[in-house]
Amino acid sequence: MSKQFDVIVIGGGPGGYIAAIRAAQLGFNVACIDEWKNAKGGPALGGTCTNVGCIPSKALLQSSEHFEHAGHGFADHGIKVSGLSLDIDKMLARKDQVVKQNNDGITYLFKKNKITSFHGRGSFVKAADGGYEIKVAGAAEETIVGKHIIVATGSNARALPGAAFDEENILSNDGALRIGAVPKKLALIGSGVIGLEMGSVWRRLGSEVTVLEALPTFLGAVDEQIAKEAKKAFDKQGLKIELGVKVGEIKSGKKGVSIAWTNAKGEAQVLDVDKLIVSIGRVPNTIGLAADAVGLALDERGAINVDGDCKTNLPNVWAIGDVVRGPMLAHKAEEEGVAVAERIAGQHGHVNFNTIPWVIYTHPEIAWVGQTEQQLKAEGRAYKAGTFPFLANGRARALGDTTGMVKFLADATTDEILGVHMVGPQVSELISEAVVAMEFKASAEDIARICHAHPSLSEATKEAALAVDKRTLNF
Ligand code: FAD
Ligand code: NAI
Repeated sequence: MSKQFDVIVIGGGPGGYIAAIRAAQLGFNVACIDEWKNAKGGPALGGTCTNVGCIPSKALLQSSEHFEHAGHGFADHGIKVSGLSLDIDKMLARKDQVVKQNNDGITYLFKKNKITSFHGRGSFVKAADGGYEIKVAGAAEETIVGKHIIVATGSNARALPGAAFDEENILSNDGALRIGAVPKKLALIGSGVIGLEMGSVWRRLGSEVTVLEALPTFLGAVDEQIAKEAKKAFDKQGLKIELGVKVGEIKSGKKGVSIAWTNAKGEAQVLDVDKLIVSIGRVPNTIGLAADAVGLALDERGAINVDGDCKTNLPNVWAIGDVVRGPMLAHKAEEEGVAVAERIAGQHGHVNFNTIPWVIYTHPEIAWVGQTEQQLKAEGRAYKAGTFPFLANGRARALGDTTGMVKFLADATTDEILGVHMVGPQVSELISEAVVAMEFKASAEDIARICHAHPSLSEATKEAALAVDKRTLNF
């Protein structure tokens, strides 16, 4: 007889593994099926995020930032560095070690929570008595039955038509994280989150980087004022970003990649580079899930159709994370995983989509939560804005890191915080205060009245909140 489970999770990324842990905490008998293979062919839990996404990219961002500081930043502090050189093999090996620590951490958590882990591809077979039959195709093949199924199969990089990923010359996020020698010339297509993060890594390590972006505006989803400030900083660093381009034919050969493109003025251009990273978004992954076998409905983008509670069209089948609508972020996937496990247990799991923070881990970092000024204008909402520059913050001056600002947007009448936008040092951490404030429906005045440690970057948050009422103290 097939093994029976209360909950089977298909996919062991941040959505799936967190859903499995929460379901196990709630007393369910849980299995998680994940097909990711490490270099030796063994399991590597954690999905895109752990293996070729959030974690390795942040490891390389850190290493490359150290390299840049040692080369250019330390001199201002009176520290002389000579004989600086790069050991790219060591840098990549460190990144792989960080990934492995995270893989192993999840394996440990599964054991601790008594979750049965299957390594292989999970696919629907049919609805069965008391649930669904799921085939696991790994080293061996077996069928298991689950009362509830949570699909968390994630997403894959979108390829440009006519320029398939070979991970040698034309790279997805996967190849972009393991280039073995710093390319002299590197192009990225798409100046979104991956374009900026990976472009920053390789520029800091010495590549001449060009980013080709189709849209005429830079980071259109980001508050315009913040995006403008960030663009200025990237221009200064020498990250060449071309907006409003049309990419034409891409030829890949022994000497590298040749990209035909048209600039914003309509002039034909050719860019010859050693490597090309294509970062034009990601597509939901339902390959191999056999959604048809049970009639699981997908939307026009190929994402699994879900309602606000992550329920699919099938009873007791749920879907979360990158494979469903909404932002493709690890913490969004995790929140959905927790909420679904709690709903299965009859509780009222909830995800507040209005307070999901975004962070772009460039230097300066960019972070935001809630609505942008352009969104409020489009809605016709009456609002007040307050900004505070890091240039006027004592800690930022001491750090030697004064680019950027904090910006608050609050309702004109009630003063409720509607959005907080940041560009500057360590704003990936500072944004949490804004998320908490918005979750508690705080006003800008609430933040302005809270005591913040001195000297700290968080004082810029307090000052921006004060600026909403035009009463900054240090600017
Ligand atoms: P995934 O992490 O994609 O996991 C899905 C898992 O399911 C994979 O292991 C896959 O192998 C497995 N799977 C798929 N189909 C099957 C099947 N049929 N059977 C068994 N297993 C299957 N987000 C952030 O919030 N912060 C960041 O800093 C960040 N950085 C990123 C950097 C890069 C370069 C990239 C590419 C992404 C980044 N993201 C970041 C996005 C983040 O990685 C995703 O939003 C997140 O991984 C989605 O989680 P998930 O669980 O939905 O899917
Ligand atoms: P993205 O959606 O962030 O950016 C894609 C960019 O490519 C857009 O600016 C788009 O206009 C442009 N584009 C699309 N087609 C194009 C074309 N043919 N020619 C030129 N430009 C084109 O997608 P990206 O960077 O691939 O990342 C995917 C997702 O992964 C992100 O949206 C995000 O959800 C997640 N991610 C999150 C990170 C974080 O939270 N720090 C880091 C990296 C990725």
